[in-house]
Amino acid sequence: MRERLVSPTLISSEEEVFHRTLRPPTLAEYIGQTKVVEKLQIALEAARRRGEPLEHALFYGPPGLGKTTLAYIIANVMGSKITTTSGPALERTGDLMGILTNLGEGDVLFIDEIHRLPANIEEFLYPAMEDFKVDFVVDKGMFAKTINVPLKRFTLVGATTRAGSLSAPLRNRFGLFYHLEFYRVDELQEIILRSARILQARIDEPGSAEIARRARGTPRIANRLLRRVRDFAEVKARGDITAEIARNALQLEGVDELGLDDLDRRFLSTIIQTYHGGPVGVEALSATLNEEVDTLVDMVEPYLLQQGFVSRTKAGRRANESAYRLLNLPVPARGAPTLFD
Ligand code: ADE
Repeated sequence: MRERLVSPTLISSEEEVFHRTLRPPTLAEYIGQTKVVEKLQIALEAARRRGEPLEHALFYGPPGLGKTTLAYIIANVMGSKITTTSGPALERTGDLMGILTNLGEGDVLFIDEIHRLPANIEEFLYPAMEDFKVDFVVDKGMFAKTINVPLKRFTLVGATTRAGSLSAPLRNRFGLFYHLEFYRVDELQEIILRSARILQARIDEPGSAEIARRARGTPRIANRLLRRVRDFAEVKARGDITAEIARNALQLEGVDELGLDDLDRRFLSTIIQTYHGGPVGVEALSATLNEEVDTLVDMVEPYLLQQGFVSRTKAGRRANESAYRLLNLPVPARGAPTLFD
């Protein structure tokens, strides 16, 4: 897939460095997700007072909402080290064995995309999470031996976009569950103003509101848009980010007033024009749009669902009236007339 300015996932390793500089280091600096922040604050404080590591924690929700940021904050508050990896990166039990045996008391192991852990790795993780030990098999056949290796008491922080894809045995080994939701526009605006301060970019309130409205409820997108608008402002307006500059910059990038781009509009128009408004399965949409199912499910649909442009039913995806209006297409009459009409 080509890069989208409104993609909620990281689009390069260079960008990761950029986002890292903007990450709030403590919960006090964290904007939004107030329920999650409050519950996490209590769990952290209780663990600290007892002198124990935090229970294993699972963060779930769409990409770009702060799951990694919160894992770093946990390690920071607990004064411990953090090791990060991801489900698909762990292929052999040996890889995980090395990581686990290097963890110190209270350290954080962050596993992103934990729903994509291979089954053998997942099973290897169970005794590590539950009893802080691993059963490592050495040699083969007649000579196979299981070595029981004790581990330090660590905290596993898992992140997933799909809590439903996690197996029950894995889910049950977490003590803390936090669901992250899309941010409100006023929260995104606050995040943008904070980021602008750190980046020493000049921005006024209306300028930050204009970016926030297009950020699809996602801080990672808000910060990426801010960066593009800052470039535009430096070249066209001596660096001052106003509402007009933000509008012009983002229009040039193909992002509309709601933060929708070409892929969103193609997604909606395919449901409407190729599949008569749906219901249509995501596999069929994937084939027609020539985009991967995972891209559609994780990066396109969540925001369109939240904004009410589409609905997900048992039979598939359906376009709502607002999608027709967005694309200036005639809204179909509601239901076919029946004998009783
Ligand atoms: N930068 C990215 N996400 C943030 C958040 N939730 N609060 C403050 N700054 C952020």
